[in-house]
Amino acid sequence: MLNSAAAFPDSQMADVPVLKRDMDFKTKSYLTLTRQRSGILGAEMYVLPQGLEAYGRAIHNPAYYPAEADKDNWQACAREIIKYVPKGTPTMEYGPGDYETTQKTGKVVKALNSARYVGVDLSKSSLNQALRAIIAIKSDIEAVGLEHDFWSEDFPISDKPTLAFIAGGSIGNFEVPILKSPPHRKLTDVLSTLVDRTNGGWLLVSADMLQSDRSPQFYENAYAGPEHAVFNLSVFHRMRQELGINIDPDGFDYKPEFNPASGAVQHMAYANKPQIIDFNGTKIDVKKGDAFHLQNSFRFTESFFNQCVADAGLVAEKVWKHPVATMSLHLLRKNNTIIPLKKRPYKNF
Ligand SMILES: C[S@@+](CC[C@H](N)C(=O)[O-])C[C@H]1O[C@@H](n2cnc3c(N)ncnc32)[C@H](O)[C@@H]1O
Repeated sequence: MLNSAAAFPDSQMADVPVLKRDMDFKTKSYLTLTRQRSGILGAEMYVLPQGLEAYGRAIHNPAYYPAEADKDNWQACAREIIKYVPKGTPTMEYGPGDYETTQKTGKVVKALNSARYVGVDLSKSSLNQALRAIIAIKSDIEAVGLEHDFWSEDFPISDKPTLAFIAGGSIGNFEVPILKSPPHRKLTDVLSTLVDRTNGGWLLVSADMLQSDRSPQFYENAYAGPEHAVFNLSVFHRMRQELGINIDPDGFDYKPEFNPASGAVQHMAYANKPQIIDFNGTKIDVKKGDAFHLQNSFRFTESFFNQCVADAGLVAEKVWKHPVATMSLHLLRKNNTIIPLKKRPYKNF
């Protein structure tokens, strides 16, 4: 447990409980470079403090429209949350990001007078900043950091009914390859899993709602600023520094590509020159023009999202829709309603 805002330089985060990661950075890097797997490097971009800083700059690019709208929605939610969730309820956040992004969810923590906040992130730098932000907002809170892959199956279940947050559209960053249709099974599974872990509690999830009349360029422009390139390409710098491989990070260009069939912006890297990478003895032959799919930022149409919520056995107790933007914030919980017998869709029940 961490209880002093001043005591969190990155080097002192050893007391954050470290649980298991599904796949380490080396494995993800190898599978990506050899193109056996794709879309699996999203979580790795925030691990170094420089990566998290680049993300912080990228979301301030005026073309990145979701950031301000998300902030407004969390603010609106903070004003009303006690109508839906009992005061004092413990809170948990998947991927809080940096000090500034944690202000959004911190407002809800404060409004709820929450007794506990658990930040879950693979990035120590993020946990460091998130816990500092929460303690600055509510000094008497029990603040805990969990360095854990939040998509992993061995995630612990809360001991009490908890309000969990997943902000900033992170729900759309799950690790799937390039798809030909919207990710029904994946989103349904992810939503039900995230709610199950709250032990009878709630999930507040922000998502960007896909608009069919928008052009692919609209979505690509949101990520076209130089900061997003630095952020995404930082994984190649990490490979060189941490894995000791001879990869030239400048040999790749970043390109966001919107896939209308699935609703994902696919964050791609294209080799701008040939190189032979010696990956601890295995030679990987990269040709100029080779494409590497690094991560995803899914959008969902409102009807698709609502269908996945229902198919996950959940109900939305409240949705905060932004008055002008496409971001929305959904308060979900398990649907415990018993369907009256005559309405049940079974013939011989
Ligand atoms: C898109 S950012 C969102 C940050 C912030 N919540 C916001 O609203 O801008 C994703 C955050 O989740 C963390 N993250 C991404 N994938 C993760 C994973 N699989 N397990 C744990 N943390 C992850 C990142 O380190 C980062 O802090």
